[in-house]
Amino acid sequence: MARFINLRELAQTTTGWHYQVRAPSNIALIKYWGKKAAQLPCNPSLSMTLAQAYTQSDFDVTRAQKEGELEFLLEGHKKSGFDSKALKLWQLICSKYPELLNYNIRIDTRNTFPHGAGIASSASGMAALALGLLALVGESDLKVISSFARLGSGSACRSLYPNFALWGQSEISAASSDDYACEYPEYHADFSQLRDAIVIVSGEEKSVSSSQGHDLMKTHPYGQRRFEVARQNLKTLSAALKSGDWNSFIEVVEREAFELHSLMMTGTPSYTLMTPATLDFIIRFRKWRDQAQVKAAFTLDAGPNIHVIHAASEAKRVQVWLETLIAEGFSARTLFDHMGAGAYIIAGGESL
Ligand code: PMV
Repeated sequence: MARFINLRELAQTTTGWHYQVRAPSNIALIKYWGKKAAQLPCNPSLSMTLAQAYTQSDFDVTRAQKEGELEFLLEGHKKSGFDSKALKLWQLICSKYPELLNYNIRIDTRNTFPHGAGIASSASGMAALALGLLALVGESDLKVISSFARLGSGSACRSLYPNFALWGQSEISAASSDDYACEYPEYHADFSQLRDAIVIVSGEEKSVSSSQGHDLMKTHPYGQRRFEVARQNLKTLSAALKSGDWNSFIEVVEREAFELHSLMMTGTPSYTLMTPATLDFIIRFRKWRDQAQVKAAFTLDAGPNIHVIHAASEAKRVQVWLETLIAEGFSARTLFDHMGAGAYIIAGGESL
């Protein structure tokens, strides 16, 4: 778990402090799509935390002579546009913890997964940033860290937690809140150690940003109904997770993926994020899955790539089927991931 760095400890060092933060991405099973006010969700969402797909950020902190500054790099380089969200989050955190302005902070960040793979880098990136900055002020309350991560990117608030995370007020858990995510610990052993085979049918950057997508929901003719249905889907999923009901899990997870994409298609403007390859894959996958009785469900993020969420006991069958499909000519790349432990700080030390 996180080791929290104390500014008093830092002040005693002459050259500065270095530490690393690691935060994973997550894939939503019940989708957050539509927001209000300060990045608050219109419906609750539930996600699976990934393990191999993570952001790692190197923090270098030194005492500032004047007002402290933030320098934000991607793999050692400045990338325009990329740092504006980070700067905004830093400013928000500084407004609550002004002592942070006594420090110059340089953050160099990298992702273990490629761009355009259907893995949300804003979720892992903003979770790493919130955790790393708040560690400096000794803030160790995950609810506080999660609520700041949320302000960076909604889905980031779920990336701090292990296994399943729930964000948004819901009757399925008294611990749930719109302000922050919490761990969702009630699930059958059959759903522990879940795997995710990510099938990349297109490596292109997202054609629609999630902000555009969320905006679409403000005037969407099915908007209000969707928020009700998402609540219902969450209840169904939660019951399936508790009882170990794979049939119900598959039904609701796949319906959620299609609801997200249908909303995009029926919005104004209308967006199609699936490609022919996405549908081709889904049709073949469902046929095999149903015939072979595999504990596996597909889901989609706001893009064309597919996540095949499956039981740990099915990992070999899924891998062999995917390899055969690709060997027979289906054009895709695969990444294999699994349920992870959430975000943490890798203990640092005094800079040399
Ligand atoms: O966190 P945002 O604003 O990038 O929105 C994420 C939206 C989805 O990835 C499509 C769904 C979700 O709940 O993660």
